[in-house]
Amino acid sequence: MHRESPKPFFLSPAYLEELARRRQSLLERLKPGEVLIVGSVPLQVRGGSIEETRRQDGDFLYLVGIDEAESVAVFSRAHSQHRFVLFLRPCDMHREVWEGPAIGPENAPSLLGADAAFPIQELEARLPDYLANALRVHHSFGRHPALDAKILSARDVLRRRERNGIHWPRIFCDLAEVVHPLRLRKSAFEVDMIREAVRITEEAHLRAMRAGRPGAYEYNVEAELLFTFKSHGAKPAYECIVGAGSNATILHYRRNTNQIQDGDLVLVDAGAEFGHYASDITRTFPANGRFTPIQRAIYQSVLNAQLQAISAARPGVTLETIHHVAVRAITQAAIELNLIAGPLDDAIASERYKAIYPHRTSHWLGVDVHDAGPYFLLDSSGAHPSPQPTVLEPGMVITIEPGIYVRPHEHLLPSAAPYLYLGVRIEDDILITEHGAEVLSTRLPKEPDAIEALLGGC
Ligand code: GLY
Ligand code: MN
Ligand code: MN
Repeated sequence: MHRESPKPFFLSPAYLEELARRRQSLLERLKPGEVLIVGSVPLQVRGGSIEETRRQDGDFLYLVGIDEAESVAVFSRAHSQHRFVLFLRPCDMHREVWEGPAIGPENAPSLLGADAAFPIQELEARLPDYLANALRVHHSFGRHPALDAKILSARDVLRRRERNGIHWPRIFCDLAEVVHPLRLRKSAFEVDMIREAVRITEEAHLRAMRAGRPGAYEYNVEAELLFTFKSHGAKPAYECIVGAGSNATILHYRRNTNQIQDGDLVLVDAGAEFGHYASDITRTFPANGRFTPIQRAIYQSVLNAQLQAISAARPGVTLETIHHVAVRAITQAAIELNLIAGPLDDAIASERYKAIYPHRTSHWLGVDVHDAGPYFLLDSSGAHPSPQPTVLEPGMVITIEPGIYVRPHEHLLPSAAPYLYLGVRIEDDILITEHGAEVLSTRLPKEPDAIEALLGGC
């Protein structure tokens, strides 16, 4: 299974340059007197003693670039000398016996370009120095309560020193405002990582389609996905969804325990995470290699909607527009198949279509599978009093993932009975380019004939 692919990126020169560019952009977005604090996720303990790594905080990964527990980064335009400061677990030969070497504060300046680095145990004592005379503190309050408490207690330490002429920060705000717009537009480095995650995922889905035959269990299909991810140094970007038969209509089905039956459609929603970057792809296929006419009708409706939505994706449009294109196409098809009542505009305006298409069509994709990035922004000029959807620009990466899920619902017509418990979703990852959109996941068939040809050949 060996294959040439991007080498482990950990602290490679290209990765370090990328991280330096991100820090530069962040520091340019911070105003004089502003400080931003971002912490890594705490370790999770299983059964009282087994330490496990949780998925790292996406903002920490984006800004600091290392998957390191118990770490905090401070970015400052308030401190007289330090712009980038790290608090890390210290190198400790006793702990290293169990966990292997840590980067440690000793190595962080030379390895990671920090202006200063300290053991994490010194955070409480040193944080007031970094908040002194700061005007505004950006932090993801509510995400890591222990860190929130330390920031607020550093503020209180400074408040008590006010009579010494020290200013304590009054304004605390969510770091989303400065960090997430940066995460929205992907650099060439990031796009390469997502491309590789997508490539691995395509291979995994091809194996999954071959394994998802009648008699196999959903977990056998999941095993093929995980095997392929791991074979390429990747891991799942989220828990794999393998839903056969009626399970395909459960949006967040993850148990993956059922046996696949002849005549089932199998919905596989799975994506690799490679180099901290996610992919997110869904394919739906007939377990026995042939769509029934009813399955094909639903499948083709979803595919038409997806293709129309993809053609709408380009710079200047919004995810709202793409969603409306998909909703229109799905609703039109659902009326023609007598799943829900028309007319089209009324089915959309009254949201009857949500009986068979209850979710959104797109999300941002990047370090996190549902990546950070504003979907709507309030216009500070006041020209638009309501939040305005983000306008797509080259470098943004999105999913387009319409579906039809026929489950009992008050808006479902009796004529929908033959379609009951059919579920289809088709999801691809899309890079917005200068002139349009590039589907990154093109090597995975989605035309029904192509799927039948692929499965017929097994
Ligand atoms: N797999 C999660 C999603 O499609 O959004
Ligand atoms: Mn998705
Ligand atoms: Mn998905």
